[in-house]
Amino acid sequence: MKEIGHGWASGKIILLGEHAVVYGEPAIAFPFLGAQITATVTKAAAESTIDCLYYTGALRKAPETLKSVRALLQLLTDELQITEAFQLTITSSVPAERGMGSSAAVAVAITRSFLDWQQLPETQERVLYFVDQAEKIAHGNPSGIDAATISGKQAILFTKGQPFASFQLNLDAVLIVADTGVKGQTRLAVKDVAHLFEQDATAAAQKIQRLGAVTQAGYQAMLNNQPAVLGYNLTAAQTLLQALNVSSQKLDTLIKTALAKGALGAKLTGGGRGGCMIALADTPQQAVVIRAALEKAGAAAVWLQGLGEYAHVSWESTSVH
Ligand code: MEV
Repeated sequence: MKEIGHGWASGKIILLGEHAVVYGEPAIAFPFLGAQITATVTKAAAESTIDCLYYTGALRKAPETLKSVRALLQLLTDELQITEAFQLTITSSVPAERGMGSSAAVAVAITRSFLDWQQLPETQERVLYFVDQAEKIAHGNPSGIDAATISGKQAILFTKGQPFASFQLNLDAVLIVADTGVKGQTRLAVKDVAHLFEQDATAAAQKIQRLGAVTQAGYQAMLNNQPAVLGYNLTAAQTLLQALNVSSQKLDTLIKTALAKGALGAKLTGGGRGGCMIALADTPQQAVVIRAALEKAGAAAVWLQGLGEYAHVSWESTSVH
């Protein structure tokens, strides 16, 4: 056993396919390095404690909001046969409930810290074994896309219950992520989509299947480095997500703003009803213009991630011409 175990995880962005992925359609997601979580674990003198943004104190008194973390810690200590008390510290820049997979990211960082502490080899399968169970407690019936994305290093094409395929993001474009500042409601949104199926199964299934087709078209566009085609499919997905009633006024406003400033496409990301939106720009200059417009339109935070040939652009120094 090491003295201190360290674990790390990033957030995630779903590019295409949220909600439809719950019904067996494919989705594309990738780890988002703009937001990160670290966890450290070490032996405690007396009882086990947890120190995070929401709570500091004895693990046994941790609030209901941390129930998936508590369950994960129980599972880790049982399965890794840890008998000593521990002190767990979590620091995070992944905004909670904003569609960035914060619950899966916390679970991945904690699991990695425990495996490191116990000097056990870390494989994605092993991490997923623990994280999938924590996600079921956090979200009810998750597709597993958050856990699969965050426990890996690359973009994935994910279909529920199937082995997922990683691929290289060779798209020459810039991804813009903007936070509405409003908590997303993934659990409720997933439930409401299920309700649409109860009301009119044919109409709901049609939208879900069209989302699947848009995801496939977007995937091909990514493989062929066609940012404009991908952008078109992002906006097409947003129209379908709106029809499923999982967008929100604030998301729609930010999406409209990005498109008006020349984004190739824009949509919500994650569960919706709040949380984050994404937009695609074909150059860093365009991305900076869109970022300024989103900030002016009320975004709580905006991140830029260069892809392909723009992967190493330093955003602070990008000037607008
Ligand atoms: C949440 O990040 C994505 C959803 O599709 C739900 C899920 O896949 O479990 C909305």
